[in-house]
Amino acid sequence: MAIEVAPLPLPPSADPSKFADFGREVKGVSPGTLTPEQFKEIEQLLYKHSALLFRNAELTPEQQYALTKAFDPSSESYGHGNNKTGETKKSILHPDLKTIPRVPQVQLIGNGTVYDHEGLAEAKLKHPSHTTFHKTKVSEEDEAKGVTRFYRWHIDAALYDLSPPKVTTLYGITVPRGQKQVCRYDDGTGDELEVPLGTTAFVSGRTMFELLPRELKSLAVRSRVKYAPHPYVWMAPAHAKPTGLGIETEGLEMALDELPPWEQAKVKVFPLLWKNPVTGGLHFQVHPCGVCELFVDPLPAGAAREGALYPDGAHLTDLGLVRDLMYRMQRPAIAPSLVYPHDWHEKDLVLFHNRGVLHSVVGAFKPDQVRAFHQCNLAASDDPVGPDAEDVKKYA
Ligand SMILES: [Fe+2]
Repeated sequence: MAIEVAPLPLPPSADPSKFADFGREVKGVSPGTLTPEQFKEIEQLLYKHSALLFRNAELTPEQQYALTKAFDPSSESYGHGNNKTGETKKSILHPDLKTIPRVPQVQLIGNGTVYDHEGLAEAKLKHPSHTTFHKTKVSEEDEAKGVTRFYRWHIDAALYDLSPPKVTTLYGITVPRGQKQVCRYDDGTGDELEVPLGTTAFVSGRTMFELLPRELKSLAVRSRVKYAPHPYVWMAPAHAKPTGLGIETEGLEMALDELPPWEQAKVKVFPLLWKNPVTGGLHFQVHPCGVCELFVDPLPAGAAREGALYPDGAHLTDLGLVRDLMYRMQRPAIAPSLVYPHDWHEKDLVLFHNRGVLHSVVGAFKPDQVRAFHQCNLAASDDPVGPDAEDVKKYA
């Protein structure tokens, strides 16, 4: 049977014109047993459409690992490294991850207590909640009415030492059904978005770039961001903004000399824009929580200086300023009409281009609402590629 594709079902909140290329449901193939030819087709589809959905998928952890690895055959270890060392104990990611013993690259994530699962006698899972991460939280009364927030907009990446995974695979095994919730932005805009319970929300990094006015496109195409060493440990004492899009600047980050041992050579500096290997499009890919500095190249010869930001280049080290600039560039793309909130069903498999989208956990479960997902991504064999000379010429 040939591979068939259909658009993803968009909620009424989404602006269909902004999702023409984004997301496809794939039918007619079994994702766990793809032939090499079928895989090639899926790989092209993923880079073109950023997220692929397979419904009613049968997928063992071994098959999920093999499928994820096929996108980057020389990648080997889980995208955040292993959790065996004390080094990651203080990381904010630590409590969210449980490893499948047989296939340690696949993580069990979810909510509630799962028994006798793939070699795990008992796993206590906790769906991350904004209440432990944001500076402010939704009141208990509002939470009881189903009001929630985006937890944290992010790319799946260690952002230190390891390279950002190319693809993440998420497989829904136990999916509790429940009332829809209202995701409130609480940033003074009045923005809110109706979401299915426990949705994973996606936005396109390509749209994030394309929305920008000319002067910010010019800044983005010329800039690289530096991430803090061990960023998830560094940010652990700090609090996020109410949109989940980055950290409030309160001076709470851990001092660099309090962090676990780190080396300058492993600190990551990435372009703001990552070039899509199939379409050549530029995706605005910044993990806003981990950023600490910004390097801006000067305008290229011949570019118009009028209205340009940092025409002679800059190295910005003021954390508040760097975060404000990122927020100004990223916030427009998480507007309600630009978010795809996936409505999970059991046996849904979602593959997403981790170097082309940002995503967020959303919502809150009660302890007795059991949810079990398998997640896999692999630290990549290379770093993302930034804009080329043509791109700089076009946008600077
Ligand atoms: Fe993630």
